[in-house]
Amino acid sequence: MPTTVQHLRQAVARSDGLLIATPEYNHSFPGVLKNVIDWLSRGSDSVLVGKPVAVIGASTGNWGTRLAQAALRQVLTATEARVMLSPMLFVAHAGGRFDRHGTLNDPKVREALIQITIAFEEWIFLHSK
Ligand SMILES: Cc1cc2nc3c(=O)[nH]c(=O)nc-3n(C[C@H](O)[C@H](O)[C@H](O)COP(=O)(O)O)c2cc1C
Repeated sequence: MPTTVQHLRQAVARSDGLLIATPEYNHSFPGVLKNVIDWLSRGSDSVLVGKPVAVIGASTGNWGTRLAQAALRQVLTATEARVMLSPMLFVAHAGGRFDRHGTLNDPKVREALIQITIAFEEWIFLHSK
């Protein structure tokens, strides 16, 4: 495997869980992210089997990555990752929720992120190998 892939696999293997934040490209998640998942899932020592994973997303459109996240969860299911199904977070009109420095300035989204991380911590605890 390429060295970069080996490094990524080691990092994921060492992690307690994987939080994936995706945009939406043409009603799905970006091809580069699919490529990453495919590399991580290869071999009998796939680092995704049993790995706690949470998915969130933000896009400039009206639906805030609903279709991208649905597609991503479908793919992750094939890898046998332990995908957290709720709570979900779909950040629509993302361009207006960050200041010019890239700092999130929407209190509702901020609170939703806090709730996601609390739920994900519990999910990791329940699904750790
Ligand atoms: C090729 C392409 C397709 C996109 N398709 C969608 C889409 O279907 N729905 C949506 O809400 N946003 C769409 N977007 C906007 C992205 O989700 C995102 O908000 C924006 O591109 C910023 O992310 P980026 O830095 O990855 O480009 C698209 C963007 C690109 C570049």
